[in-house]
Amino acid sequence: MSHHSHLVAPSLQAEKEAETQTQDASSDSVWRFKGSDTAAKASSVTMRVIVYKLFDLCSQEVKKTLLPLAHGDPSVYPCFRTSIDVENAIVDVLRSGKGNSYGPAAGIFPARQAVADYVNPDLTNKVTPDDIFMTVGCNQGIEVVIQSLARPNANILLPRPSYPHYEARSVYSGLEVRKYDLLPEKEWEIDLQGIEAMADENTVAMVIINPNNPCGNVYSHDHLKKVAETARKLGIMVITDEVYSQTIFGDNPFVPMGRFSSIAPVLTLSGISKGWIVPGWRIGWIALNDPQGIFKATGVVQSIQQNLDITPDPTTMVQVALPEILKKSNKEMFAKKNSILKQNVELVCDRLKDIPCVVCTKKPESCTYLLTKLELPSMEDIEDDMDFCMKLAKEENLVLLPGVALGLKNWIRITIGVEAQMLEDALERLNGFCQRHMKKTVASLQDLKLSDNSEI
Ligand SMILES: Cc1ncc(COP(=O)(O)O)c(C=O)c1O
Repeated sequence: MSHHSHLVAPSLQAEKEAETQTQDASSDSVWRFKGSDTAAKASSVTMRVIVYKLFDLCSQEVKKTLLPLAHGDPSVYPCFRTSIDVENAIVDVLRSGKGNSYGPAAGIFPARQAVADYVNPDLTNKVTPDDIFMTVGCNQGIEVVIQSLARPNANILLPRPSYPHYEARSVYSGLEVRKYDLLPEKEWEIDLQGIEAMADENTVAMVIINPNNPCGNVYSHDHLKKVAETARKLGIMVITDEVYSQTIFGDNPFVPMGRFSSIAPVLTLSGISKGWIVPGWRIGWIALNDPQGIFKATGVVQSIQQNLDITPDPTTMVQVALPEILKKSNKEMFAKKNSILKQNVELVCDRLKDIPCVVCTKKPESCTYLLTKLELPSMEDIEDDMDFCMKLAKEENLVLLPGVALGLKNWIRITIGVEAQMLEDALERLNGFCQRHMKKTVASLQDLKLSDNSEI
């Protein structure tokens, strides 16, 4: 619990302080200023708000350690520590003094060149350093791109379920959000028909996340080609989030969306947070896969540059180290990480089979999460996924993410990027919780099934 306490306490504190400030300003205060409300709507759809609420329900009285399996940051566990070579790349730059200066808004040239060299082997239409913009993690790439596309009446198509930062930033930028479905019965493929039905002349882009957080699938070459063809038909760009491209442990190979850039323009967002397990280093990039120069002709490139001009740059030190880090994209490190994740997925799927009321419909093959569906009719006093997670936190000090935080009601997301022992403990607690909250009729049917089996 100790390494997570920084995540819990300060923000709870901050939330309470913010409430007090607004109350003071709206009463008969003599002060003419008050906190802005612009971010309130946007932040309400972020995961953090829900996770902190759940942390708040955990207590010492339960006499169990807090198991934080709602958000994902494997870097806090020793088994997921990045390689020594990658750490040394930073140490060398630090000691050389070469990373102490401001960098240009688009990023320093060697870093942009290194990213182009890193992505090009998998692309048919190669990119140049001019097509790459360095960002403060993948998240700033999301922010800059959404802000660059926002204009009155424009809308953007986002997946459901999704990584919530896309929606939060769209709300913040005044870009209308339309959600298309990912289909659980089709291994979480994109509902392309749905996309065609919901797009109109004001649709500017569709976002895909591949490999997919939270579904854990990897899209096939054929499916991605269809995505590009749909985008072309609709006259929109594809924004692809590939931050998990080095976190794959299943059989389907990763295909970059940029491969289809001659069909429709593709804007790729990525970074080193997940692959190299260093989310705290805050380095990401935007790559423009656009052989026909559509982004330039439509002013998108200029808008990205302008947005980068007015936002903070990623740390120069890490940018200077990036060529070395990307060169040290050593297969061994990725393989070690992915093999631990695979073992964890097997462990969770295996245990879930014996836990009532939660069903894993597809074993993840990428990323650091596993989605399970709640069988609410089999439960006695659980209203929905949020209620499930709140009671679970309260009774077991186990924090899982309700699907509603990702746009998928009555599903639950479990983080698998943790130590195996934590998963063992979590599943034991989850089992106890589900047994307690299962309808009595379901419970006796299960007993019957078990005693039948024992006779065989
Ligand atoms: C799909 C997806 N995109 C982007 C990010 C943010 O990446 P970064 O830490 O590099 O900003 C995350 C983080 O969880 C993510 O899951």
